[in-house]
Amino acid sequence: MPKVPEDRDGSDTPNFKISNIDFWPSIAKPTIGLFDYVVSMKRPVRPLFGILLLIIVFAATLSCRTVVRRGLLSIELESKVLVQEPVPVFNATLLKYAAIDLAEEQSKQEIQQLLDGNFGNHGRQRKFVSWRRFIHQDVTARSARGIPVMPRSPMFYRYWLDFRRVLHDWARKKRFQPEILLELIRLIKHPIDKHNGLVASDQRHSSCAVVGNSGILLKSDYGKLIDSHEAVIRLNNARIENFEHKVGSKTSISFVNSNILHLCARRQGCFCHPYGSNVSTVMYVCQATHFLDYVVCNYSHKAPLLVTDPRFDVLCARIVKYYSLKRFLEMTGKAFEDWASVHDGSMFHYSSGMQAVMLALGICDKVSIFGFGKSDLAKHHYHTNQKAELHLHDYEAEYAFYHDLVERPRVIPFISNKFKVPPVVMYH
Ligand SMILES: *[C@@H]1O[C@H](CO)[C@@H](O)[C@H](O)[C@H]1NC(C)=O
Ligand SMILES: *[C@@H]1O[C@H](CO)[C@@H](O)[C@H](O)[C@H]1NC(C)=O
Ligand SMILES: *[C@@H]1O[C@H](CO)[C@@H](O)[C@H](O)[C@H]1NC(C)=O
Repeated sequence: MPKVPEDRDGSDTPNFKISNIDFWPSIAKPTIGLFDYVVSMKRPVRPLFGILLLIIVFAATLSCRTVVRRGLLSIELESKVLVQEPVPVFNATLLKYAAIDLAEEQSKQEIQQLLDGNFGNHGRQRKFVSWRRFIHQDVTARSARGIPVMPRSPMFYRYWLDFRRVLHDWARKKRFQPEILLELIRLIKHPIDKHNGLVASDQRHSSCAVVGNSGILLKSDYGKLIDSHEAVIRLNNARIENFEHKVGSKTSISFVNSNILHLCARRQGCFCHPYGSNVSTVMYVCQATHFLDYVVCNYSHKAPLLVTDPRFDVLCARIVKYYSLKRFLEMTGKAFEDWASVHDGSMFHYSSGMQAVMLALGICDKVSIFGFGKSDLAKHHYHTNQKAELHLHDYEAEYAFYHDLVERPRVIPFISNKFKVPPVVMYH
């Protein structure tokens, strides 16, 4: 079965492992009740509703020719759309469980500790020390439990203030709000357009290629096809030199998770911007301390270095968890509660590839997906010799999601009705 490979930075960093993924779920849980309500309403109401619609259509076609043309015509159009595409009925229990974030409490505590300047717990001290060394500041911060870090250097102090501000804003915004998909153009595309000297408009990209890092890319010569898209989104700093025939050479957006930036920030020759400081980067934050890397790197980036909106993160997390739960229950016949032990519970996370595809849905008129999937004959990554998967992802669940995206996007849960999913093609 195919797997999406990624979450590696495509360089020589053996034994890299995402440790301690923090994931913040919705702080408020406004929708569970709503969905339950909608679902429970739907069943008894639908047959009656269907009959009503038929009557309306019938009445409309009858009276259209005689009198009130315009008013009824719009009713007729609307009702036809409704009849052809019934709103899918989602399984309320699945929606409810998908909305639960097992890491919520722990993450909140950790954020609070960081905001209080307490880096002392859970080996965070070491991270902080190495970070200070990395920015070459002569700081003798003590960070034992409860004692705030008191940096001496003004430079350090500036980073520290930025860190606190950014983390605070981010944590505050984290909640479920599916309409966030409608804001991606403003949040992501506008700043990138501006950097590229274009007038920021609400126009989407006419076409986008999302390029995963699977070894299946080596089977074909998609390079030219990939580059022919208006925008090309690449994942986790995968190398392109010497693979141009296979993966193309254009990079419009480098999409990474914060582990990648964290590693890159410290490595000679990578230093925050592996594709060059002029390539726009979009990053989701999987661990709150990575905002340290973010604020430091942000100063050296010429092109935008954008952190995904936490509401977008929550949306992606819920969708993937829904598919993961569904698969788990169908395949094992076990109970909802057993899911966590199989999927790393609070560590469970969507992959970078999944969120990059979601981003493309928001900013592109057409989306082509390359290099997602696995075959027994193909290498795991086109550019590394990595063998194993990371267990905190459920790639099979993500494939089920992509399948629906291509074939029947309306059955994907949690996506706002106001959002129109663009056509998606998957290249194998
Ligand atoms: C919801 O889905 C689960 C798992 O597929 C299933 O066990 C359960 O019966 C479903 N509930 C309803 C109301 O369809
Ligand atoms: C960076 O990119 C912008 C927009 O694409 C371009 O105008 C500028 O010349 C580039 N700068 C460098 C140093 O390549
Ligand atoms: C990152 O850098 C850009 C450009 O210098 C700046 O406009 C933006 O405010 C910075 N972001 C944060 C969160 O400091």
